Amino acid sequence: MIPDTFIERLRDESDIETIISSYVALKRRGRTAVGLCPFHSEKTPSFTVYPDSQSFYCFGCQKGGSVITFIQEIERLDFVEAIKLLAGRAGIPLPEEAADDGSSRRRARVLEINRTTAKFFHEKLISPEGQAAYNYLTGRGLTRKTIRSFGLGYAPDNWDSLKKHLQDAGFAEDEMLSAGVLTKGRSGRAYDQFRGRVIFPILDLRGSVVAFGGRAMEDGKGPKYINSSDTPVFKKSHGLYALNFAKAAKEDMLLLAEGYMDVISLHQAGFTCAVATLGTALTQEQARLISRYTGRVALAYDSDGAGQNAARKALGLFSGLDISVSVLDLGGAKDPDEYIKKFGPIRFRNLIEGGKSAFEFEVERLQKKHDLDTPDGKTAFLNEFCALMADISGEIAREVYISQIARQLDVSKDRLAATTAAIRKKKIGAHARKQAHNLRTFVQDNPETLGGRPSARRGTDLSGLAAQRGLVALLLQNPDYFGEIRSKLTENDFTDPDLGAIYRAVHTLLEQNRTPDLALCGSQLTPQQMGIASGLVASGRDIKYYREQADEFIAAIHKQKEQKGPDEVGNMSPRQLQEYINTRRAIK
Ligand code: CTP
Ligand code: MN
Repeated sequence: MIPDTFIERLRDESDIETIISSYVALKRRGRTAVGLCPFHSEKTPSFTVYPDSQSFYCFGCQKGGSVITFIQEIERLDFVEAIKLLAGRAGIPLPEEAADDGSSRRRARVLEINRTTAKFFHEKLISPEGQAAYNYLTGRGLTRKTIRSFGLGYAPDNWDSLKKHLQDAGFAEDEMLSAGVLTKGRSGRAYDQFRGRVIFPILDLRGSVVAFGGRAMEDGKGPKYINSSDTPVFKKSHGLYALNFAKAAKEDMLLLAEGYMDVISLHQAGFTCAVATLGTALTQEQARLISRYTGRVALAYDSDGAGQNAARKALGLFSGLDISVSVLDLGGAKDPDEYIKKFGPIRFRNLIEGGKSAFEFEVERLQKKHDLDTPDGKTAFLNEFCALMADISGEIAREVYISQIARQLDVSKDRLAATTAAIRKKKIGAHARKQAHNLRTFVQDNPETLGGRPSARRGTDLSGLAAQRGLVALLLQNPDYFGEIRSKLTENDFTDPDLGAIYRAVHTLLEQNRTPDLALCGSQLTPQQMGIASGLVASGRDIKYYREQADEFIAAIHKQKEQKGPDEVGNMSPRQLQEYINTRRAIK
């Protein structure tokens, strides 16, 4: 148990805005700071920090809490570990009790095993026993210096040389198993996980060895690579190989490759911003991690079909993040490692400068897919091309790509633009219809979630309730409409008590010529009402409200007061439904 007084002191000395700023690019907005949420993908910032109350809240994914909660979530630590990290950062000595926590002791043991193991493997590599492995690595072009700085190693080709070494160093078998350096056979006997392989230790951002990858020295003898499975200190889908080096690189970008050898080759050639996933396809977590470190990433994936497919998937994962992505064309080589060897670092540097954007990548893929020399192939390509263009929301970008292809294939630009526009219209219409349908189904399936408290809901026309929500959301978004609204509506027109209270809080602030900031409303609202208000602000991020809508909402609110109509979700316009659902979801 850590005493409350210690936690309080820690919180006072760990300013939430400063701490979060080292993970998230925050922009000050009045008394709050906002940024792109590190916990979910988004393009517009909904992650908000309130220095006033030393708290944070994400309107997109509803995560929130104190600076300690933030560290827990972002570093994936438990409460005590997060406190330790913050205490270390603030230079506050830990109370005795905190040092004595079971799970951190286990993690510490695993890290110690990993460190000892990495050292053992490295020493084996440079000993006579590791001669063949050493030759393998130098044979692949690695220098002595590279081998040392990446801490590469050799796992001897027998069942228990590491196990014995760790036993002598005082570690227990179950500790070795939980570190993943031993594995249990069907007989129940535990033996070395890595045997007769070249070893790539994987370091976390603090420089601790958290896992290992091992490569066979001959192809065709068992799997080419084996990797540590997840352990108390390692989650494969979250880590990135060499990020500990790359984060310190001078380039303001990251290069994402597929393999260990690619990364090491790139670093040796001077591209120290290279990282790789660890034997898995890129995950959303890794994409997010990358976007936290840089605003620009270049994909240096293998040039074969599998690599190109993987690049395409990666583009999808990055598309929701605030990062510019390009794809390198490693034509003439199968992977970055081979490219550097064949063509040298200068050409690779040019490759980075000339990387393709996500759309160029996709267009080229389509060009390769179809035979553009035949009329049928050309038509098929143009159809797919227009469908692709229809998904681009930027008008100028659409125009640029369309002109380019029109020129290249000698077809009418207007024709392509018209086809694209038609597809776009159809897609948007279909999307809207689908949304409306989903919303209606959702509303009909969840009647009990609809109107807040039952007492507030009974006899209330739902579209009237949606109008109340819409109005408050609109006001929070456009406080300058207040003058008009004030003359047409009072707090008493709200049949929903929570919305009435929020309206009053906003009203009070605006009367005082202050921004209806949530942190400011906080003193007047219950936590539950704060939740609803947050939800409305969140919905306001997706929906732009217009002045005319204020009148629509006000009319609906008055109308609903007059006539106690039936719960008629079916009568709502798709827009009202959308609005309504967004706020319900946000509140939930
Ligand atoms: N990988 C793996 N298990 C395998 C094959 C590959 O975990 N059986 C992972 C490894 O992390 C490897 C990456 O996928 O680094 C890329 O695989 P691949 O392109 O096959 O290997 P290369 O990086 O080219 O490895 P090398 O150059 O050593 O052949
Ligand atoms: Mn390779």
